[in-house]
Amino acid sequence: MRNVIILAMALASTYSHAAPAILSEYAAQAKQANPGFNGFSAERGKALYYRETVQNGKNISCASCHSADPRQPGKTPAFRSIEPMATSVTPSRFSDNKKVEKWFRRNCDDVFKRECTALEKGDFLTYLSSVK
Ligand code: HEC
Repeated sequence: MRNVIILAMALASTYSHAAPAILSEYAAQAKQANPGFNGFSAERGKALYYRETVQNGKNISCASCHSADPRQPGKTPAFRSIEPMATSVTPSRFSDNKKVEKWFRRNCDDVFKRECTALEKGDFLTYLSSVK
């Protein structure tokens, strides 16, 4: 019995660090949009995280609010603290699909003046789930 409990605990801790559930939806959408799709890339996600645009004369990127180091807390333009984006530091990140979609829509529009594609969203989450 004791061994069963220890096994269950080990499994629970394994799964709490699993990839965000919404990734499989993004993978299906990315495949549909791009038949050559062969998986998300942490490398591309990292490039997206740091990609700068100029809005109202100011450089802005995802890192502007979410911190140059995603293991550190970020802050909004009004200096409200934002919990770190790396799932290794904030395991609850990206677990609520509605929240994920809402902020992708809003933040991609702020930074890129368009929605992010499913490929970009999947790459971004893959990067932030890989940062140790
Ligand atoms: C102007 C500040 C700001 C910028 C720039 C910004 N974000 Fe955010 N982001 C926030 C805030 C505030 C939240 C909500 C608070 C939280 O989740 O801690 C958030 C939350 C998110 C979430 C939801 C996280 C979750 O746990 O579900 C995603 C996804 C996200 N942002 C993606 C991006 C991407 C992609 C970019 C760059 C294209 C970006 N953000 C740029 C402020 C920003």
